[in-house]
Amino acid sequence: MSENIHPLLPSAPPRKKINPIDLRQKKERHEAITMLTAYDYPSAAILDEAGVDAILVGDSLGMVVLGYPNTLPVTMGDMLHHCKAVARGAKWALRIGDMPFMSYQVSIQEAVRNAGRFLQEAAMDAVKLEGGRERVEVIKKIISAGIPVMGHIGLTPQSFHQLGGFHPQGRHAHEAVRLLEDALYLQEAGCFSLVLESVPAQLASYISQQLDIPTIGIGAGVGCDGQVLVTHDLIGLFDRFMPRFVKRYANLGQLMKNAIEQYCQDVRRRDFPAAEHSIEMNKEEWETFLKLVQPITSPKRVEEELK
Ligand code: KIV
Repeated sequence: MSENIHPLLPSAPPRKKINPIDLRQKKERHEAITMLTAYDYPSAAILDEAGVDAILVGDSLGMVVLGYPNTLPVTMGDMLHHCKAVARGAKWALRIGDMPFMSYQVSIQEAVRNAGRFLQEAAMDAVKLEGGRERVEVIKKIISAGIPVMGHIGLTPQSFHQLGGFHPQGRHAHEAVRLLEDALYLQEAGCFSLVLESVPAQLASYISQQLDIPTIGIGAGVGCDGQVLVTHDLIGLFDRFMPRFVKRYANLGQLMKNAIEQYCQDVRRRDFPAAEHSIEMNKEEWETFLKLVQPITSPKRVEEELK
């Protein structure tokens, strides 16, 4: 298979592989960056084919794929498993693996090792982790190991207990100053980009203008350098709750339910499988088969065997 041919979609036109520097250059050219989450091979391939710049294997998979109430139970094992599948589907987009709760908080050594596993074992191009100034030291060490890091501030779901729930952040002036400072600390630490989650649009826009690195907003208004959403929210595959900042572009959940109901009805009515879904045996072979089995299934033989 040629280098530029996609494994799932062979007709896909060749595209340049995106790296962290490309995102920065997009910011410089005032081109909006597109990022979405993916957790498996087919959706990664579809996102890649659709031209998304960056694919995040978010720990949101804990909620939208694994059915946990929040992201805290997600493990390194879960993340690597899904990252590997995404890496097989996404050839051109920048692939970012989200470091799960407790994979980077315990010690710097453990954090560097875990970050490395995303690149070494799961073919990610970069990692993302949550937190502001308190993460500077660990981020510097991960970057010094040659691993690009995306920061994530504002609403950081792994700290929802500490934040008192899933609330917007930075609505008060002092909190907003702290967020700006955190963004500057993370840029200084070497992050190639930052996610700003659930912060007021004016503040996100202000922070984006103060930074050289691109900001990727989720619930942070149009002034960020790019946008990210959880794909399951965008396509209507997850409806346990929907944050206000989500725009639903399709309702695949409903489409899927309709299709499954139709299938059940067809099976029950014996409308499926129809002739075109069935395998035929040619007439001659069938007749030979009947002749061959006749002595085995004849009533006389059955009677004898029952004696
Ligand atoms: O886990 C995730 O999907 C994320 C995005 C919402 C940024 O962190």
